[in-house]
Amino acid sequence: MKILITEFMDVEYVELLKTNFEVTVDHDLSTNNTELKKIINSFDALIVRNKTQVTKEVLDKANNLKFVGRLGVGLDNIDTVYCKNHNIHVQPATGMNADSVAEYVINAALTLLKNIPLMHQETLIGNWPRTSISSRELRGKTIGLLGFGLIAKKVSTLAKVFEAKIIAYDPYLDPSVGNQFDTKLIDINDVFRMSDVISIHLPLTENTKNLLNYNTFKKMVKQPIIINSSRGSIVNEQDLLRAYEEKLISGFALDVYNTEPVPKAFLEKVKKNTNCILSPHVAGVTEESNKRVSEFIAKTAKEFFNL
Ligand SMILES: NC(=O)c1ccc[n+]([C@@H]2O[C@H](COP(=O)([O-])OP(=O)(O)OC[C@H]3O[C@@H](n4cnc5c(N)ncnc54)[C@H](O)[C@@H]3O)[C@@H](O)[C@H]2O)c1
Repeated sequence: MKILITEFMDVEYVELLKTNFEVTVDHDLSTNNTELKKIINSFDALIVRNKTQVTKEVLDKANNLKFVGRLGVGLDNIDTVYCKNHNIHVQPATGMNADSVAEYVINAALTLLKNIPLMHQETLIGNWPRTSISSRELRGKTIGLLGFGLIAKKVSTLAKVFEAKIIAYDPYLDPSVGNQFDTKLIDINDVFRMSDVISIHLPLTENTKNLLNYNTFKKMVKQPIIINSSRGSIVNEQDLLRAYEEKLISGFALDVYNTEPVPKAFLEKVKKNTNCILSPHVAGVTEESNKRVSEFIAKTAKEFFNL
């Protein structure tokens, strides 16, 4: 049984797979679909993160493929419809990195409400901005969550410790789901109107693409902090910068981008004295979560093949 791993996986669990599989690890294949198409035919299983594009063209060549393991949760880099139609099992590591993302969100909310990026820059150049830059508490603030799935629920639980109020928009859920987490499920425009912090926890779909754009930023009343740790194209990045310039929002944290790695052209537009945090799609990637997702996918692959 042959397994191909194209992105980083905890070494301990690559070794575990080697006890049952003939394992090939080649990270270069995550950005080289031409080569991937050439060799995929001999593999029974493929393990990826979010870089490898498991497209129809790749899958067309994968005559022996029965299992695709995703070391994470978003499946937008995998043609899941094709997999379903061709009996290829796609296995995300559901829930295994949710704690890491939830902590990232709380950290971003606190850091940006307290204007820490601005404080840091001013202090570093010898200024002493004790009174010129203000700072706020998370306590008593309203956090609006777009999507109320696994990660958003964890954010909600953590935020309660800070005595923040939580509201959320998720029309696919029964309101009683929100009640279990002391979270009111409401209309999206009310989330825009009422929130001091807006954090996005949606999948990328035709409905969610470009969901935060100039028009929606204009509906935000309380100059919220925007946090996107879900998928890049859900936020219109140019409109986000414009909204910050026009003080419609008071800061932003981006972990995900329209194009990754994020193009220089975008970075050049982010002014130095911006209250923002930019990170390279790592909200879900901690030492702990890497072990959890790797263990989960390795064990699930073994079980899938009855090994
Ligand atoms: N940055 C990272 O490292 C990282 C790590 C893990 C997950 N993610 C991303 O975070 C996002 C959330 O993950 P999750 O595990 O909480 O997902 P989930 O599937 O548990 O929750 C998503 C929720 O969004 C809701 N939803 C779907 N379409 C909607 C729409 N049009 N309007 C409103 N609600 C809608 C669903 O009903 C569901 O409750 C995903 O995009 C995932 O890819 C990013």
